[in-house]
Amino acid sequence: MDERPADQSRETAEAGPGGSLRTVPARAGGKAFVKSYGCQMNLYDSERMTEALALQGYAQTASIEDADLIVLNTCHIREKAAEKVYSELGRVRELKEERAAAGSSTLVAVVGCVAQAEGAEIIARAPVVDLVIGPQSYHRLPELIARAGHEKGGLVDTDFPDEDKFSRLPPRAPARGPTAFLTVQEGCDKFCTFCVVPYTRGMEYSRPVADIEREARTLIEGGVREITLLGQNVNAYHGEGPGGAAWSLAQLIRRLASIDGLARLRYTTSHPRDMSDDLIAAHAEEEKLMPYLHLPFQAGCDRILGAMNRKHTAQSYLNLVARIRAAQPQIALSTDIIVGFPGETDAEFEQTLALTEKVGFAQAYSFKYSARPGTPAAKLGEQVPDGIKSRRLARLQELLGAQQAAFNARCVGQTLPVLFEKPGRRPGQLVGRSPYLQAVHAEAAPAQLGRILPVEISACSSNSLAGVIRPL
Ligand code: 5AD
Ligand code: SF4
Repeated sequence: MDERPADQSRETAEAGPGGSLRTVPARAGGKAFVKSYGCQMNLYDSERMTEALALQGYAQTASIEDADLIVLNTCHIREKAAEKVYSELGRVRELKEERAAAGSSTLVAVVGCVAQAEGAEIIARAPVVDLVIGPQSYHRLPELIARAGHEKGGLVDTDFPDEDKFSRLPPRAPARGPTAFLTVQEGCDKFCTFCVVPYTRGMEYSRPVADIEREARTLIEGGVREITLLGQNVNAYHGEGPGGAAWSLAQLIRRLASIDGLARLRYTTSHPRDMSDDLIAAHAEEEKLMPYLHLPFQAGCDRILGAMNRKHTAQSYLNLVARIRAAQPQIALSTDIIVGFPGETDAEFEQTLALTEKVGFAQAYSFKYSARPGTPAAKLGEQVPDGIKSRRLARLQELLGAQQAAFNARCVGQTLPVLFEKPGRRPGQLVGRSPYLQAVHAEAAPAQLGRILPVEISACSSNSLAGVIRPL
């Protein structure tokens, strides 16, 4: 994380009409440490919070010890993710006490999906916390910070407010690199029985096209070459278009692709049921749309898929993959898979291996099922013992690792366009991304950052490529 100097001279006034940021006095000289857990949507939210805090006078710090304000942007998707926050809060309590002994105060905010799911319980369990703010209310962070300064006890805001938080946030600050995330859709109405997202992020909401385009143009003017459109169920996007009618994700992609200066577009995460014909066609026709698709299937057995309320079968997933590959034969597929859903037998798990084998993934995320409070699957009997889940996960990951290694090996000898994003670990080296989202290392001058250059791939490891830049 780099430090961004804050404008300490003004009241924050950048929020939209009626926005809460209008009323908040700037806090000169404070330092904010913002830590993000979990998904890319949290990373995006953390960035927007950091930008809003900068306008309030908080400079960003990468060192928690120096922070006057600590913001933990949390994830509730699996038990392990949620528990990480509590262990971090133990450390934060010690820090806060040490700083208090030295005469400095520290404000602690827990934001995001754990905040939404647990609310005031967080303060009961960890009294070090001053503020608990759900993912739909973080535009109120500056206002709540101001209130926390002179109100006793913790403050909790886990409403799902009517107002659109995005229109209440300050405009994007200048970009800090050639790639950026842009949240276009939030929440989910699919209600997979294992998943907390519909409860923590709420019902599906799509931002209007004009707002997204404005944000994209700001990012591109600031030097961004690649934008990843984010949403929990991004291909269900149905935001208001310029004529008032809802636009699909494919329409949005085509609109953004027409902006000069933008070189690449990606989107994540998609549900198989929402993979519409026009989106598949966009993969065939829109050059700026990268040949990469994250398409979770979760399980390979239809009985388990039914119990998960996934609304697709193993065969319908295979048919969909065939249609996508017919449209874009180069596409690299990625997925999410859960092992050990309640009641999953050995034979049913074998069907997950079989489906994985049939598709062949370039990349994948796989998890042991984790019972989440309040979700229907958590109430089912027949929870699978942890040892069995671990053994299934190890077998699945062995197969996925081999598929990823094979995909990477097939790239050796090819020349791929690479967008260079940041310095590599070794001096004189930069790291970028291939169209298939692989990390690619190459010897390159710092001036090549932000450029897309042809790289002849000469070597691969299990999760990255290396090569030599060729003349354009
Ligand atoms: N247990 C394990 N994995 C889960 N995921 C979502 N909920 C759970 C859970 N309760 C996984 C799914 C999803 C990804 C983001 O996290 O695979 O696609
Ligand atoms: Fe959760 Fe994704 Fe299912 Fe929505 S589609 S409930 S976010 S797993």
